[in-house]
Amino acid sequence: MIDIDNLSKSFGPRTLWSDVSLTIGRGEMLALVGPSGSGKSTLLNCLGLLDKPSAGAIRHEGKDLITLNQRGIRRFRRDVLGYLFQNYALIENATVAANLDIAVRPRRSVPRGGRVTIAEALDRVGLAGREKEKIHHLSGGEQQRVALARLMVKQPALVLADEPTGALDQVNATMVVDVLGEMSAAGCAVVIATHNDYVRDRCDTIFAVKEPSLAGNSSWRTA
Ligand SMILES: Nc1ncnc2c1ncn2[C@@H]1O[C@H](COP(=O)(O)OP(=O)(O)OP(=O)(O)O)[C@@H](O)[C@H]1O
Ligand SMILES: [Mg+2]
Repeated sequence: MIDIDNLSKSFGPRTLWSDVSLTIGRGEMLALVGPSGSGKSTLLNCLGLLDKPSAGAIRHEGKDLITLNQRGIRRFRRDVLGYLFQNYALIENATVAANLDIAVRPRRSVPRGGRVTIAEALDRVGLAGREKEKIHHLSGGEQQRVALARLMVKQPALVLADEPTGALDQVNATMVVDVLGEMSAAGCAVVIATHNDYVRDRCDTIFAVKEPSLAGNSSWRTA
């Protein structure tokens, strides 16, 4: 689904990571691990086409993503990508329902297995009946769960999650990983940058992001 080929990223003279080669398959859940500042978020941003790598290729179904024009980027974000980022990317001044409406796709593009309604998604994340509340009245953890419900409604083929359990207690962290696991079981490729051992251990594959001087990057399969 996604092929990363010899990807490198530098800011000025500093190389964050280099020669990252990695394949992320349909239904795979991959953990990106590494110390703070090692470049996990930067790698996710490159995959989400929010940042450009300094060298190398990223392909989706064989198609080069780095050379896409603005229209191609918009289409990739709309049709393929789902984000779960630290700032949730919700519209603060709108209601929960309005934030989820954005993710409802045209009927023709709904994948097999059928659509998930807004009410079902809110119920799954423990926010049943909260449709009419404004985002800025919700707690950080509740906002994080609204962002998760939005992903369930959108059913993207690729989910990029940056520390999705950072603001959550263990019960809700487990729920987030369960939902991401269900999406991956339904065929979605899920990439999670995390410092959380529990989240890491729930993933199929672990990729350690390392400075080039530290003996290269490595990935391994769990279990
Ligand atoms: N636009 C930029 N210009 C210069 N340096 C940057 C830029 N964006 C990120 N960096 C640097 O790249 C490094 C990696 O940052 P990144 O946020 O990817 O790390 P991370 O692995 O996600 O860390 P954390 O675990 O703390 O979230 C940091 O040292 C950061 O300061
Ligand atoms: Mg980060």
